Formats: sequence, C-alpha cells, structure tokens
Amino acid sequence: MTQDELKALVGRAAVDYVVPGSVVGVGTGSTVNCFIDALSQIKDRIRGAVSSSVKSTERLQALGIRVFDANEVESLPVYIDGADEIDHGGNMIKGGGAALTREKIVADMAERFICIADESKLVDVLGRFPLPVEVIPMARELVARRLRALGGEPKLRAGVTTDNGNLILDVSGLHISNPAAMEAEITQWPGVVTVGIFARNRARVCLLGTAQGVRTLEF
Ligand code: A5P
Repeated sequence: MTQDELKALVGRAAVDYVVPGSVVGVGTGSTVNCFIDALSQIKDRIRGAVSSSVKSTERLQALGIRVFDANEVESLPVYIDGADEIDHGGNMIKGGGAALTREKIVADMAERFICIADESKLVDVLGRFPLPVEVIPMARELVARRLRALGGEPKLRAGVTTDNGNLILDVSGLHISNPAAMEAEITQWPGVVTVGIFARNRARVCLLGTAQGVRTLEF
C-alpha cells in the first residue's frame, strides 16, 4: 500500500471513534483531510466540528460540516489529528503544517486525543523530525539562542506566517528522551507561543496504518 492509501485507511477508521450527537475536534494535515472526507459521510450524525486551522475549516465547510468557534463549545469527547512523529508512549511531535498552537488548544479541550498516522511516523525516540516551535517575531533570535544552548539547530521556516501571525523555528538535532520535561521547559520561555511536543496532551489511542491494516495502539 502507498503512504496515501495508509492515510486514507486510518482516516476512515477514525470515524468509529466519533461520538454520535457530539462536536468533534478536527486537526490538520493530509491524514486529517482523509478523515474529514470520511466524516462527511456521517455528518448528519454529529453536531459539527471545532477546527485547528483555516485549511481544515475550509475543507469541513465545503463538505457541509458546521464549524463551531472553540469558545462556543464546552465538551469535546474526541480530538482526531495526525502527527509528524509518535513514540511508544503516545508522545508526539506536531506542527509540520504550522498549525501547532491551535492543535494544542483543541487537543486540550478534548477528553481523548486519537492520533491517525501511517507507520513511518512511529519512532523509539522523538527528534528525527525537526521540532517546530512557534515564536512571536520579536523573540525569534532570543528563542533561537536558547534552543542552540539545548543542543538543537534552529532554522526559520522560510515564507511561513502562522494562522496567528507568528513565525516557526524548526529545530533539528534534538534527542527528546523526556518529552514532558522538554515541553515544560521550552513552553515557559518568553516569546514562545507553542512548542510542537505533545506530551501533556499526548495521544490516548493511535490508529497506525500498516501494510497489514490498521494497528491500534493504546497508551
Ligand atoms: C500540522 O501542524 C501537523 O501537526 C500535522 O498533524 C502533521 O504535520 C501531520 O501531517 P500529515 O498528516 O500531512 O502527515
């Protein structure tokens, strides 16, 4: 199976985790696009969605799914999103699509994070994928210096402004053996909006697309 076929497989499988009558938290990316397409088949059975990006909002609305403002919604049973990397504890690197801040907000609103990914995303230790960090433009160099002191090599993502008007630093060379500690550390630096480590909001379930079918990991 191709990578696109694996993404479509897990996108369809995630529909089983949608709670009837609820609002669904929807992430961002090519795997989530497959989920949105599958969700449109059962759109009459949900109230609507809270979206983590302008791109996902546009896709949801184009398929006739109502998108709620996050502030209008009190309860979100599940948040369904992809990942750039996921380890065997459900910790993730996210933000390859620059949507990490809104993704973390919607993930935090939800009771359960269901990750959908093809098997290439499963790793023993996070860090091979450059870690995205969203920064306020004024703090770009301050934060970059601190990331270098941690042993990383930050690179400004060229030509990218986030949905929130900020910049992304992609940090290579990190070996993230304690995701929760590194997330807590970087998050508290002035000028950092969001770090792309999702440990506090880690996945509870991962639907992993493999050549043998969907493998379900629970954490
Ligand atoms: C978006 O900012 C990311 O966190 C995505 O969830 C991640 O990049 C996965 O994207 P794909 O499903 O396109 O691989």
